[in-house]
This record gives sequence, structure tokens and C-alpha cells, in this order.
Amino acid sequence: MSTIELDGVRKTYRSGSIEFEALCGIDIHIGTGEYVAVLGPSGSGKSTLMNVLGCLDVPTEGTYLLAGEDVSGMSEAQLAEVRNRRIGFVFQQFNLLATLPAWRNVELPLVYAGIGRAERRERAHAALTRVGLADRTENRPGELSGGQQQRVAVARALVTEPAIILADEPTGNLDTASTADVLDLLDELHASGRTIVLITHEHDVAARAGRRLVISDGRITSDERREVVREVVR
Ligand SMILES: Nc1ncnc2c1ncn2[C@@H]1O[C@H](COP(=O)(O)OP(=O)(O)O)[C@@H](O)[C@H]1O
Ligand SMILES: [Mg+2]
Repeated sequence: MSTIELDGVRKTYRSGSIEFEALCGIDIHIGTGEYVAVLGPSGSGKSTLMNVLGCLDVPTEGTYLLAGEDVSGMSEAQLAEVRNRRIGFVFQQFNLLATLPAWRNVELPLVYAGIGRAERRERAHAALTRVGLADRTENRPGELSGGQQQRVAVARALVTEPAIILADEPTGNLDTASTADVLDLLDELHASGRTIVLITHEHDVAARAGRRLVISDGRITSDERREVVREVVR
């Protein structure tokens, strides 16, 4: 079964009288539990694709079925509900709220989902423990390293137990060691059955995924599956 089915998806940006087609007819089917890397140079349409996949934006044309549900024509409120229920996001810039301690950042998706206080606190702490930050739950983002901040963001992405994790250049601002930490976490989430879509422009990061899509000027130019062979060092 496909979790994600895009057919003939186009996205046109308009500013004044100028139109720009950022996605020019994308057909992608992603199966449940696949780990897919989307590779492409800057400006090729990766983030636009991520926004469509994540229901942060809707296609101008074409259809998008998410877990069999047609999201192309949904209202903003319906999209927000689908995002919260099905998808965890990780961004390059972490997107944490600076004034809140780590665990408060992590519990936010549960606030939107209407989960009660005590359960939120418990699940936020469990998620932070899972990413190795059990001793940093009270720290604000500014008191954490970049790698730790991104692990908080991963905890926030997984706290709702979403079936899909979308990560847009999650290691773009990280050093080598933190990059390895975050990629290991994505591997674990994949191993636990989640569908992962990882957007990157780095080939060694993309090498962690079993399937690689290349996007160029809004079109998919390559789609290949490869055996991932990895030495476990720890
Ligand atoms: N809101 C927007 N309005 C107009 N053009 C946009 C907008 N967002 C992105 N674009 C253009 O669409 C193309 C793809 O952008 P993007 O998806 O951000 O690429 P990538 O993430 O691969 O760098 C770029 O040429 C960009 O300038
Ligand atoms: Mg981008």
C-alpha cells in the first residue's frame, strides 16, 4: 500500500503578473515504511515538494492521496488536522520556540491534538529520553547545541507517533557528529515502521535511504532503489 500518492502534481507560484511553476507534474508513490531521500540542487523544488507532502501547501493541479485520503481539496482546518495526526516535521532551522523549555516545545503537537496536561508531560519526557536528552528537558533552545536542538525537534516530530516523518535538510546546520546522531535517529524511526521522506542536497546523507529521488527544475529525473549497507559502529 502507498502512504503517499502524488499524481500530476503541479505547483505554480504567482506574484503579481509573474507566474513560476516550481513543480511541473510530479508522480510519486511512496509505500508504507519506505525511507526515501529527495535530492536536488538549490531552487529545484525540494521545499515546495515537502510543503505539498506535509499538507502545508496544496498543489495547483493534480491529486495527492495521503493514506488513501484525497487532501488536494481540503480546507486549511482539515489540512491542519491531517498534519497533526499523520505527520512529524523536522526542519533545517529547528523551528523551536526560544522562550519555552525543551519539553514544552516537544509537547506542543499534543496541545493541538487536545491531549491532557499530565499525558502531554509524560509523552514529551519519553520522546526526549528517546532522543538522548532526558537530562535536558528543562533547558531552553538557546542553552542547547545545534545538534541537541535538532534532537529536540526530532522528539517533537515523533511525540504524536506519526506514521510519516518529513525532514527538510535536517542536517543542513549541523556538524558531522550531530549529523550522524540525527541520521541515526531517522534510521531508528524507519526501523520502527515509519515512512521517512528526507530532503537533502548531500549525497552522503541521502545514502542512508533505501530509495533516492532526484528533482531538477520541478521534475523528478531519477528514482532508484538501492540496498542500504551500513556498518553498525556502536
Ligand atoms: N512563495 C514563493 N513565491 C515564488 N516563488 C517561489 C516561492 N517559493 C519558492 N519559489 C521558487 O520556486 C523554486 C523552488 O523553490 P524551493 O522549493 O524552495 O527549492 P529548494 O528547496 O529545492 O531550494 C525556486 O525557484 C524558488 O525561487
Ligand atoms: Mg529548500
